[in-house]
Amino acid sequence: MVWSRAPMQGALAAMAGFLTSTCARSVERSPMPIADPTVVILGGGVAGVIAARTLYEQGITNFTIVEARGELGGRMQTQTIGAPGNEWVVERGPNWVQGTQTGDSPVNPIWTLVQKHGVKTQFNDWSNSVVTYDETGAVDYLDIFNDSDDQYDDLTVNAGARVQRQLVDLTARAGYSLIGAKPKTPADMACEYYQFDWEYAQTPEESSLIASSWGNNFTYDPDVGGFGDENEMSIDQRGFKYLIQAEAAEFLQPDQLMLNSTVMNITYSSDGVNVTLTDGSVLLADYVLCTFSLGVLQNDDVTFDPPLPDWKEEAIQSMTMATYTKIFLQFPEDFWFETQMGVYADTTRGYYPVWQNMNLTDFFPGSGVIFVTVTGDESVRIEALSDDEVQAEVMEVLQAMFPNVTIPDPTAFYFPRWHSDPLFRGSYSNWPSSFFNGHHQNLRATVEQRLWFAGEATSEKYFGFLHGAYFEGLYVATELAACIYAGGCAGMAHVPEVTNALPYTI
Ligand SMILES: Cc1cc2nc3c(=O)[nH]c(=O)nc-3n(C[C@H](O)[C@H](O)[C@H](O)COP(=O)(O)OP(=O)(O)OC[C@H]3O[C@@H](n4cnc5c(N)ncnc54)[C@H](O)[C@@H]3O)c2cc1C
Ligand SMILES: *[C@@H]1O[C@H](CO)[C@@H](O)[C@H](O)[C@H]1NC(C)=O
Ligand SMILES: *[C@@H]1O[C@H](CO)[C@@H](O)[C@H](O)[C@H]1NC(C)=O
Ligand SMILES: *[C@@H]1O[C@H](CO)[C@@H](O)[C@H](O)[C@H]1NC(C)=O
Ligand SMILES: *[C@@H]1O[C@H](CO)[C@@H](O)[C@H](O)[C@H]1NC(C)=O
Ligand SMILES: *[C@@H]1O[C@H](CO)[C@@H](O)[C@H](O)[C@H]1NC(C)=O
Ligand SMILES: *[C@@H]1O[C@H](CO)[C@@H](O)[C@H](O)[C@H]1NC(C)=O
Ligand SMILES: *[C@@H]1O[C@H](CO)[C@@H](O)[C@H](O)[C@H]1NC(C)=O
Ligand SMILES: *[C@@H]1O[C@H](CO)[C@@H](O)[C@H](O)[C@H]1NC(C)=O
Repeated sequence: MVWSRAPMQGALAAMAGFLTSTCARSVERSPMPIADPTVVILGGGVAGVIAARTLYEQGITNFTIVEARGELGGRMQTQTIGAPGNEWVVERGPNWVQGTQTGDSPVNPIWTLVQKHGVKTQFNDWSNSVVTYDETGAVDYLDIFNDSDDQYDDLTVNAGARVQRQLVDLTARAGYSLIGAKPKTPADMACEYYQFDWEYAQTPEESSLIASSWGNNFTYDPDVGGFGDENEMSIDQRGFKYLIQAEAAEFLQPDQLMLNSTVMNITYSSDGVNVTLTDGSVLLADYVLCTFSLGVLQNDDVTFDPPLPDWKEEAIQSMTMATYTKIFLQFPEDFWFETQMGVYADTTRGYYPVWQNMNLTDFFPGSGVIFVTVTGDESVRIEALSDDEVQAEVMEVLQAMFPNVTIPDPTAFYFPRWHSDPLFRGSYSNWPSSFFNGHHQNLRATVEQRLWFAGEATSEKYFGFLHGAYFEGLYVATELAACIYAGGCAGMAHVPEVTNALPYTI
């Protein structure tokens, strides 16, 4: 059975109807109204906190956020690293507001929270503060770097033309090849990596041409509805997470938050949802809004009873949870570049390719902190190694980049293992070319009217980003509030099967 979702207009009208007791209902199915419905929000990341704020603003206060960790923020997490007396708070997870605002373009809501809560950020120049290396040391291939930047733009234009002509999606690799961008040398590959993998945390082969271009445009291109092309990096020593914790503190009551509470099992029916925690306690809810990461849903870290329907499971398994790993080092003396960014071209594509210098006046002056990022399969590979083994690889790369330097031992070495973490199972979602719009709708759709879903992965325009999590928490909770005021509803619709436009013919 397929329920069609009441359009926003109708849903809001239904809410207004409730408030004025005229009871104009536009939803298809309205079971007995629940007098004081309880909502349990699973997960205290950006989506969970913004969903809670949205319910609160709509006058629904009988909700609880259930979070496994000891604080709010989700993937917004910090780590203190460094030698005694020279310690710095670094970001394990997100560290940029990606796209802020340009002129009268839409504003990134994360940027609004940064400004509201006084989080300290700094413009991070990805284009004009770069120096390049290969296995022989410093080698200037900024011409290739610049070409690669242009090719990335061409890629998004090519993708847009396909959308207009209703052509099928392709991999971003096919898209690159079709515009004539065919990287062959280590420098070509490192520059392409910088443009592509360093954002999507996966290769062009693994990524949708159209969805990755949308992701870029809606975030970075004010000409097509995006915020702007600037990246502001958090350097706040309270952590980037401060913005969402401070936001929560404005409305959340202590009894609306359960920290250190890990969900094990979710039992649901069209009458309600029971959430079992690892300590055996059970929370009864009329509605559950699940914001667990795509990786958690994919890996059965939480079980659903009955198992999720086929259409939901196919959507979950068809999106990808990618991994992005920042490896932090601190050195007692300076030997690296003075730009913000360094690119390293290894013969193995994606081998410790992007370096960032935090020891700059505008960042962490005098910290001696640098970090290198790996993504995708490389992240998975290094997570299986010991810290010492990874450190040895990183030091070998640094020695190749700086052949004439006697590199001192680092005073700190740290990297998080997102892929193995059962609360995340990766860092953020990426859209493969075999993920179709029907899958997207089903990833977000409500199960049995009572089990709702939101998070960065359910965002069509901004999957992978903090602002994606924000907009999804806002949108889905708004729908849920309208549903509650309507006395119940079908929830957000799904398609029963994702089918081809034309049948297979053999
Ligand atoms: C390394 C890295 C770098 C990134 N860089 C950026 C960036 O610079 N800019 C940007 O915009 N985005 C970035 N992102 C993406 C951004 O962090 C996410 O899109 C966003 O934080 C997701 O929020 P969410 O609320 O959807 O999910 P989450 O933050 O994952 O929230 C879900 C919550 O559920 C909890 N949970 C999971 N399982 C259970 C359980 N069984 N029981 C109870 N609780 C559970 C988790 O602890 C978590 O708090 C990055 C992410 C990572 C990891
Ligand atoms: C929330 O709902 C539950 C279950 O109906 C009820 O026991 C509880 O008193 C309610 N809490 C508030 C604050 O209304
Ligand atoms: C959560 O657990 C941590 C570690 O055991 C503890 O330090 C912290 O006080 C706990 N917080 C809450 C709110 O229970
Ligand atoms: C690369 O582009 C930047 C500006 O975008 C320009 O200043 C620089 O000269 C270019 N470098 C090369 C080698 O083309
Ligand atoms: C992305 O933006 C460019 C303009 O900068 C546009 O030409 C292209 O069609 C857009 N791509 C998509 C997939 O919308
Ligand atoms: C989930 O919980 C229900 C009731 O709380 C129980 O009947 C069921 O066996 C549990 N399932 C799993 C997989 O733990
Ligand atoms: C939740 O638990 C209550 C009390 O044990 C039970 O009556 C109810 O049927 C359960 N609901 C679901 C959806 O399992
Ligand atoms: C870091 O930057 C400071 C200036 O802010 C400089 O004096 C110092 O030598 C640099 N290197 C290290 C390792 O701190
Ligand atoms: C390293 O030193 C050698 C010999 O002095 C010199 O030829 C070479 O240019 C130096 N390399 C770098 C990257 O500075």
